[in-house]
Amino acid sequence: ADPGQAEHYVLAGQLLDPKTGDVRDDQLIGIAEGRIVSVSPRDAVELDEDGKVIDLSDRFVLPGLIDTHVHLTNDASVQGHARLGRGSHRAALYGVRAARKNLEAGFTTVRNLGAPAFADIAIRDAIEAGDFPGPRMRVAGQSLGMTGGHCDSTLLPPDFEHRGGGVADGPWAAREQVRKNLKYGADTIKFCATGGVMSKGTATGARQYTLEEMEAIVDEAHALGMRVAAHAHGDAGIKLAIKAGVDSVEHASLISDESIALARRNGTALSMDVYVSDYILGMGEEVGMLEESLEKEREIGQAQRDSLRRAHEAGVRIVFGSDAGVYPHGQNGKQFARMVEAGMSPLEAIQAATIHAADLLDWSDEIGRIEPGFHADFIAVDGSPLDDVTRLESVRFVMKAGEIHKR
Ligand code: ARG
Repeated sequence: ADPGQAEHYVLAGQLLDPKTGDVRDDQLIGIAEGRIVSVSPRDAVELDEDGKVIDLSDRFVLPGLIDTHVHLTNDASVQGHARLGRGSHRAALYGVRAARKNLEAGFTTVRNLGAPAFADIAIRDAIEAGDFPGPRMRVAGQSLGMTGGHCDSTLLPPDFEHRGGGVADGPWAAREQVRKNLKYGADTIKFCATGGVMSKGTATGARQYTLEEMEAIVDEAHALGMRVAAHAHGDAGIKLAIKAGVDSVEHASLISDESIALARRNGTALSMDVYVSDYILGMGEEVGMLEESLEKEREIGQAQRDSLRRAHEAGVRIVFGSDAGVYPHGQNGKQFARMVEAGMSPLEAIQAATIHAADLLDWSDEIGRIEPGFHADFIAVDGSPLDDVTRLESVRFVMKAGEIHKR
C-alpha cells in the first residue's frame, strides 16, 4: 500500500510481529478508514507537519489482544442463587460496561461463549452500530446442553420448571437449537460436554451429551459456517468432543495424554482458563459462590495448570481464553503470567492471544497482526512484554479500528 494514502499514523517505539517474534524500532503505522495501510521505518516516510502522528515512540506496540472465552453478561460479584435475581435485560446492560472494560484492558476482540436470551448478540450489534465502545465480537448466543447439565439452569426446584434457553436433548433437537442460534445472529456454537465448576449438581468428570449428539451439533454448525466450542473438564467429555470435530475445547482441565495426541492430530485448539482459579479460591466464598463450586475448583484448578504444561509441550495449539465474567472483566491479562508459569514463553502466550486466537475465530486475515489490510487494532505497553509478560496487565494505549479508546 502507498503510505501516502494514510489518514493518520502511529509512531511505535518498538513494534512486535507476533508471527515471527521480530521486534522493530521506530515504525510508522499508516491508518485509513479503520485499517492499516502501511508499516514502514520512520525515516522512509515523508511527513507533513499537520499533527497526523500519534506519538508512541516511548512505547512497545503489539496487535490488540483476543480473548476467546468471556461472558460479558456475567457480573463476577453476583454468584450462587443471587444470579437468579438478574434477568437477561439487566445482564445485557451490565455487558455495556463489561465490554468497555475488556476493550480498555487491551482486548480489542472477544468471543462470548454463552449468554441469556441472546443478550450477547444485542451487545455485538450495538457496539458495531457505535452505540457504545467495546471489542469486536464473536458470539455464541445460547449455549447448548443436556437437561440438567452445566449449560442448563439448575438452581431452582421443579416447582418453577425453569430451564436454560439452549437446552436440547437428542441429535435433532440439538440441530434445531444450532439453527435457532444462527437465526437470531450467533456466529459460533458453544455446547457443554461435561459438568462444570459453577453449576449446581454437575460433576466435572462426567461426560454430558453422547457422541451422537456432539456429532450432530458439529455437523450442523460446520455446514452452516459456524465454529464450535465445547466446554469440557473431564477427559471422557474432552475425548468425545475432539472426536466429534469441535474447533476448540474450553477448560480441558483433566485432559489425558491420549486426548492431547488426538487434539494435536485433529488441529483442535485448547482454550485453558488457568487464571480464574485464583479468583474462585481467593474470593469465591466472599462473593457467594456455592460451596460445591469451591470444592470442585480445589479438585481441578492445579490439575488444569499441569494439563496446560503437558498439552503445550506436546505441541497442541493453545489459545488465550480467560472466562472473564466468572472473575472481574478487565483483569483478563492476569492470565498471561499463569500461562508462562505453565511453560509457555511470553511470545507463545502472546501468540495464543493474537495469531492463534484469530485463526480459531476465523479472522486470521483481519486481526491478530499489524499488517497492511488488517484492522487498525493495537495496544501499547511500557517496555517489552517479551521480558516481562505482566506488562500486559497494564495496557496504556488502545486503538480499535483506528479509533483511540485509551491513552
Ligand atoms: N465456567 C467454568 C465452569 O464453571 C469455570 C471453571 C473455572 N475453573 C478453572 N480451573 N478453569 O466450569
